[in-house]
Amino acid sequence: MPKVTLKNGINWVGVTDWNIRDFHDYVTSCGTSYNAYLIQDEKIALVDTVKATFCKELIAHISELTTLEKIDYIIVNHVEMDHSSSLPIIAELAKNAKICATARGKEELIKHYGAAFERVETVKSGDKISLGKKTLTFLEAPMLHWPDSMFTYIIEDKVLMPNDAFGQHLASSGHFDDEVDQERLMKEAITYYSNILTPFAPLIVKKLQEVIDIKLPIDIIAPSHGIIWRKDPMKIVNAYMDWSTGKVVKQKVSIVFDTMWDSTNKMARAISDGIASQGVEVKLFKLRCTENTDIVTEITDSKVVLVGSPTLNNGIFPSVSMFLTYITGLKPKDKLWGFFGSYGWGGGAVRGMVKVANEAGFEVIDLGIELKWVPTEAELKKCFDYGVQIAQKVKA
Ligand code: FEO
Repeated sequence: MPKVTLKNGINWVGVTDWNIRDFHDYVTSCGTSYNAYLIQDEKIALVDTVKATFCKELIAHISELTTLEKIDYIIVNHVEMDHSSSLPIIAELAKNAKICATARGKEELIKHYGAAFERVETVKSGDKISLGKKTLTFLEAPMLHWPDSMFTYIIEDKVLMPNDAFGQHLASSGHFDDEVDQERLMKEAITYYSNILTPFAPLIVKKLQEVIDIKLPIDIIAPSHGIIWRKDPMKIVNAYMDWSTGKVVKQKVSIVFDTMWDSTNKMARAISDGIASQGVEVKLFKLRCTENTDIVTEITDSKVVLVGSPTLNNGIFPSVSMFLTYITGLKPKDKLWGFFGSYGWGGGAVRGMVKVANEAGFEVIDLGIELKWVPTEAELKKCFDYGVQIAQKVKA
């Protein structure tokens, strides 16, 4: 493999997963990478490993630079298996290495891989490990992405390795931000943020502020997935701040719906016409035509989300239920929610969706709009007017 050097003595030894399309229900249409880094000084440290399927490739990449017996430290920034499932094999081969993780990380490693990981040494924020001329220090970052997560920072090189934070599911032959298309990079970065880190927005703001407050000089941000930020590392830090604080929210409505015999579709289109008539941006997503992954990304900068469902067996249509399960788990902030749908007998979908939204703590605009059988022209006008009201709320 051609060397991928971040700074003198710091090399990427990860793997590129070109073919993955499903990352625990996140549709990864651009593949991903599992980034691991080898830091070579008087002592040698490996930061993170890769998904077990690619363990041999990781070993090959390390072996081009050193032998595994020479590794002195294995730093585990995060235990989720895309980064740690090679660890049992690597730890056996790097038999002289101390393994370092947070206290929560140690607990999780033992639970994942057994008592062999009792040997893990715990580190906390501010602890330092000298490799010679290079010093590693740590910043605990619980819930970015799991309770165990931490960032590793190489003081002299000003390189931050924040694991999942600032990553993207993007496989690429270029490894740095100056080697890839910027629009694609930021699109995959916001998709990743929206689908993985949205629930932790308040913690992200707090952690970023902490990093800004201590004036941590950063030349390179080297996450555990996708592209490494060396040209403009603050670009992704500022983007995270904007996404996490709702600064990107604009006058935009996302309409997410499914339909059985086209009635809910007709309602969705009439509502969207009403919204558009007021000069407000609106996008429609039929659930069985669009991946949840993409819808959630569109919701990140939407002010209002309208969800439409026909009633099936007195309840919510299955694809809409699945979407609601996904979105209420992610809990995007700063949104207004509305619900609509058609029914044949007694209704129930709109009532059910409002209940789900209330239980999730979402701000629900009103009791929604529900119509029987096929909407008449007059009823479609009612939907159009509902759209006009929604647009006015967006503008307000
Ligand atoms: Fe990339 Fe939370 O694992």
